[in-house]
Amino acid sequence: MATPGEAGASTPIRQPIPAPLTRAAIFLVVTIKSGHDAIASVQSLCADLAALLRAVGFREPSENLSCIMGFGSEAWDRLFGEPRPAELHPFREFRAGPRHAVATPGDLLFHIRAERMDLCFELATQIMARLERAVTPVDEVHGFRYFDSRDLLGFVDGTENPTGQEAVDATIIGEEDATFAGGSYIIVQKYLHDMAAWNALPTEAQERIIGRTKLSDIELDETSKPSWAHSALTVVEENGREIKIVRDNMPFGQAGQGEFGTYFIGYSRSPVTIEIMLENMFIGRPPGNYDRILDFSRAVTGNLFFVPTATFLEDVTSGAPAAAPPAIEPPASAPSQSVPPIPDYSLGIGSLKGKPRR
Ligand code: HEM
Repeated sequence: MATPGEAGASTPIRQPIPAPLTRAAIFLVVTIKSGHDAIASVQSLCADLAALLRAVGFREPSENLSCIMGFGSEAWDRLFGEPRPAELHPFREFRAGPRHAVATPGDLLFHIRAERMDLCFELATQIMARLERAVTPVDEVHGFRYFDSRDLLGFVDGTENPTGQEAVDATIIGEEDATFAGGSYIIVQKYLHDMAAWNALPTEAQERIIGRTKLSDIELDETSKPSWAHSALTVVEENGREIKIVRDNMPFGQAGQGEFGTYFIGYSRSPVTIEIMLENMFIGRPPGNYDRILDFSRAVTGNLFFVPTATFLEDVTSGAPAAAPPAIEPPASAPSQSVPPIPDYSLGIGSLKGKPRR
């Protein structure tokens, strides 16, 4: 959805992953109703989503409206059939003691971002006007930036995200699944926090749980950071190299209802990376050495989605399931390039300790 007008060029155009963190976001998850008409409506929206985005976004270009559309495993089969993305499967649950990473229904995800909520809301409205009879909404979260990108636990969230080429390497599928190169995977989970219990902890105890200082957001040194700190258990290494993901978490809530939450959204080149992080958090590394955030936070949703390229979406035609997707291959002129060239959506801020995956 980044530069929709360019679809059809020889190099597939990605949806805007990674994109700059914005001030507002809507996370809209729906299931597709049964029947051919529902499938046809969703297929027709795939091809038109870029035009809807242009129509809403062009009215306020400086507000950076973007939309990522993701597909759950069953939905993919109903909409597109074969071939299918190599690592697309239903969300894997993790359970240990009272901790449970639940799997919940969800066929489509719309991750809508902008600097202002009104643009997000208008695009969500236009999308739902198109899908009204075809889908059942199962979750809609309106997220907001909280001060200097803090979560509602009071900590700055997003600091260790990779940026620039490192973010592209962390999120965009390359030669390992050439048919779907330029795509990505998303895992989402909606967390609710027990703020009274969290706020009863001394700040130093909270800092050990996160692994960073609260006010200044500095990483605790190795001697004071417990092995069960959140920012220890979510570091995943392969052959001695760290494998990063890109997170675009957002706080949400309803003060009057006592609801305080974090919507976790992680983009990754392979869902396995985020699944290892979840296993470390919920079961523990080693088992039992779990993430204490979970003593104060409960996951109430869980979904895995595949994000195809914008070119793929524009080429979707109606029919159940749709014709096989177009082959998405790097251009012959650039055989050594595993990831299609894309515009740079990074914030241009250097990462503190990230290492490229390859
Ligand atoms: C209750 C939900 C969550 C909250 C409030 C939360 C909050 C935070 C905070 C405050 C940080 C430190 C600053 C930063 O680098 O961003 C962080 C780091 C991180 N979180 Fe989470 N997080 C949550 C869930 C998750 C989940 C479910 C995952 C993955 C499955 C995850 C993966 C990560 C990663 C990879 C880092 C960076 C670690 C590093 O390189 O230091 N988080 N999170």
